[in-house]
Amino acid sequence: MSQSLEQLSHQSVLLHESVDALITDVNGFYVDGTFGRGGHSREVLLRLSEDAQLMAVDKDEQAIAEADKQFSDEKRFSIRHGSFSQLNQWLVEIEKLGKVNGILLDLGVSSPQLDEAHRGFSFMQDGPLDMRMNRTKGETAAEWINSASQEDIARVLKEYGEERFSKRIARAIVDHRQEQPFATTHELSKVVTEANPAWEKGKHPATRAFQAIRIHINDELSDLDVILEQALAALAVGGRLVVISFHSLEDRRVKRFIRQQVQGDRLPMGVPVRDEQLNKRLRSLGKVTKAGASELAHNPRARSAVMRVAEKIA
Ligand SMILES: C[S@@+](CC[C@H](N)C(=O)[O-])C[C@H]1O[C@@H](n2cnc3c(N)ncnc32)[C@H](O)[C@@H]1O
Repeated sequence: MSQSLEQLSHQSVLLHESVDALITDVNGFYVDGTFGRGGHSREVLLRLSEDAQLMAVDKDEQAIAEADKQFSDEKRFSIRHGSFSQLNQWLVEIEKLGKVNGILLDLGVSSPQLDEAHRGFSFMQDGPLDMRMNRTKGETAAEWINSASQEDIARVLKEYGEERFSKRIARAIVDHRQEQPFATTHELSKVVTEANPAWEKGKHPATRAFQAIRIHINDELSDLDVILEQALAALAVGGRLVVISFHSLEDRRVKRFIRQQVQGDRLPMGVPVRDEQLNKRLRSLGKVTKAGASELAHNPRARSAVMRVAEKIA
């Protein structure tokens, strides 16, 4: 395993806490659904025996190239290019469905994705308005913002950015594109900023709009719903699901999903069933874990991270 400059540019969040929670069997089979720059994968491999295996996944071709560089001599490691929502299809191919000892998801974007202007994720850097994690397919943010209806833009800003002024900002976007279609992050950031009458202290006025458009372009919440459901079939009994979320839209989904699977089937009051007939699939391990003071001191990205862990029981 070699460590590159690229890898060092992304500081993995809740690294030790998440890997401690993930590994129950050092000889097991594990999945890192969000390889990024491999910080979590590297730590997992350090803790596993020579007989263990780690399968990683990432949507981003740059992440795949990085994995090829870092882990070319690592026989226990493999990586797939695509969405973690395809996980069970790959597991079936390698006969590992129901045999996974742990799945780790460190959601959202990596620091290199945010920091590289040409990826178009950030209002801080001027670049082409792309925002796709997987640049081999799908619509760019520019293609979408220049063609979507005003209602659809407002809906995305409200649902995925929880933007109070979604309608007003959507109107400004549509007015602007009639004169000049959007091509860059700075054009979009300027129009959103001018249309936004109020935003939270310490945040950029385009923060919510950029988050919303990124989530939409990358299908982030539907992918999350799919992998949560798939994890039930993927994991072995005793296997762990470890999810690190970066905003409340993600965390709410993870929390709700774990709660449902911990409670099992919801039956009308008074129906005579035994506890074991309720189809309970998970047990929740602890409440949430957040980054401690020492991590926050050197990694501001960890500020909004929330980790939840569940174990498959049936
Ligand atoms: C926060 S970073 C992960 C960082 C990684 N844990 C590390 O230590 O370097 C998130 C990564 O997940 C990828 N990603 C996000 N959603 C994905 C999905 N649905 N399927 C596959 N990869 C995804 C992104 O492309 C990004 O590289």
